[in-house]
Amino acid sequence: MNVSILGGGSWGTTLAQVLTDNGNNVLIRDINKDFINKINNNHLHPFFDLIIPESIKATDSLEETLDFSDVIVLCVPTKVTRSVLNECNKLIKTPKLFINVSKGIEPSTSKRVSEIVDEEISEKNRSGYVVLSGPSHAEEVILRKVTSLVAASNDDSKAKFVQELFNNEKYLRVYTSDDVIGVETGGAMKNAIAIVSGVASGMGLGENARAFLITRGIKEIVSIVVALGGKMETAYGLAGIGDLIVTASSMNSRNFQCGLNLGKGMSVEEAIHAVTQNVEGIRAIEAGYEIGKKYNVELPIINAAYQVVNGSNNAKEALHNLLSRSLKSEKYW
Ligand SMILES: NC(=O)c1ccc[n+]([C@@H]2O[C@H](COP(=O)([O-])OP(=O)(O)OC[C@H]3O[C@@H](n4cnc5c(N)ncnc54)[C@H](O)[C@@H]3O)[C@@H](O)[C@H]2O)c1
Repeated sequence: MNVSILGGGSWGTTLAQVLTDNGNNVLIRDINKDFINKINNNHLHPFFDLIIPESIKATDSLEETLDFSDVIVLCVPTKVTRSVLNECNKLIKTPKLFINVSKGIEPSTSKRVSEIVDEEISEKNRSGYVVLSGPSHAEEVILRKVTSLVAASNDDSKAKFVQELFNNEKYLRVYTSDDVIGVETGGAMKNAIAIVSGVASGMGLGENARAFLITRGIKEIVSIVVALGGKMETAYGLAGIGDLIVTASSMNSRNFQCGLNLGKGMSVEEAIHAVTQNVEGIRAIEAGYEIGKKYNVELPIINAAYQVVNGSNNAKEALHNLLSRSLKSEKYW
């Protein structure tokens, strides 16, 4: 079948290879002319300079990409999702199934991608929504290394459709879920804790400190997921703990790297700039802080990270505030 991908960066082009391996035809839309040329003329992945299947094509035309298929994979950074969808809504001719693979929360509104799709795509233009997330570095999937993902939808038949579309018996195992809120929120909030983990490493703290912050950070992710109406078990699954394990200690993670820079004393702007790619975890920290206040959820690690991100405390002071809180028993719920 034909599948369209909006956003041909690290992840979008990698998923194009997965879909091609599974016998589908893929058209990618990107705004970066160099990426389009690399894909069309050299059959190269734009980020990893690895050969990708010749049948993968790219274009800068949104209309052509929307006309190509009724299955649309959304793989642009969350901060531009609304504007891209707004443009899509004006060009769509037949109802589309939206598969969101980006992980993030919209800056300024703290909305999840499913909420943005609901707001920007008229009902007549959409046939369903699925979020596909989990522990997956593009750097490994492009090499066809064994990976797992979870496809969540309010419509079980759509989740199963996406499971079969992406599952590959050689290297990609896809599970289904009915918890869109949990999968979207877990995928976004693990980036916040990945930054915290990076900060700890950047400050020169040891493995003990990182294990402490990641483990207690998982509890905070669970609290946020549940406060927003998601399920606790989703946060303990692939889209929560799973994704945190793969992100919170890997130099492949731009969020971990950004945290590392912050821990070494860089400003937020310098830390993001040094990573060069989009860092969604900074926004996740801000959103987590706001959610904590709104729903009265105790989030000491996210709050400490927020102090560093908004510049009110440096990492050392934020750590001191965290460690000097009143003593507690270890509860996970
Ligand atoms: N890289 C990974 O390993 C990975 C894995 C799983 C999920 N994700 C998620 O996928 C999303 C994309 O990540 P990525 O790593 O591919 O990022 P990326 O920066 O490599 O790619 C994003 C692409 O979107 C394009 N783009 C930017 N603004 C656009 C616009 N207005 N219209 C159309 N295209 C636009 C860019 O040109 C770029 O090619 C993120 O939310 C990320 O969390 C990434």
